Amino acid sequence: MARLTTQEIVSELNRAFAEEVEAATRYLHLASAVRGMDRLLVEKFLRESVNETIQHAEVIGQKIRSLGHVPQLEIRVVCPAEPLTARAALRHALTFEEAALECYQDLLRKVEGDVPLEEFVRSQIAVEAEHVAQIRELLAE
Ligand SMILES: [Fe+2]
Repeated sequence: MARLTTQEIVSELNRAFAEEVEAATRYLHLASAVRGMDRLLVEKFLRESVNETIQHAEVIGQKIRSLGHVPQLEIRVVCPAEPLTARAALRHALTFEEAALECYQDLLRKVEGDVPLEEFVRSQIAVEAEHVAQIRELLAE
């Protein structure tokens, strides 16, 4: 497969950057949308996930800078004003975490052969896969 140009890599990384910022925003909303006693179950996890996901965005932003570019961010997030149970919030989280994982796996296929970038993407995949596994475990489905 032909190597991606730096510009192509940056646009892929911008996509990942946007996914992470979107996910952080969604976690922030989920942490506010869970009602009643269920808050005791998931609020801490959801708030930690906001911070963790912002950290992921920071790492991607840093990678983009190291390639001599500035991250471009374009997001549109719509979160409905509906109360959620802990389980429903985790199911939502699982959906967008799986999408993020898929995004990195797709990126890995594209950067094949560029060892430093491959390693970078692999480490992101490991972190995302860990998060997905954690949510699945909490859902115990
Ligand atoms: Fe992430």
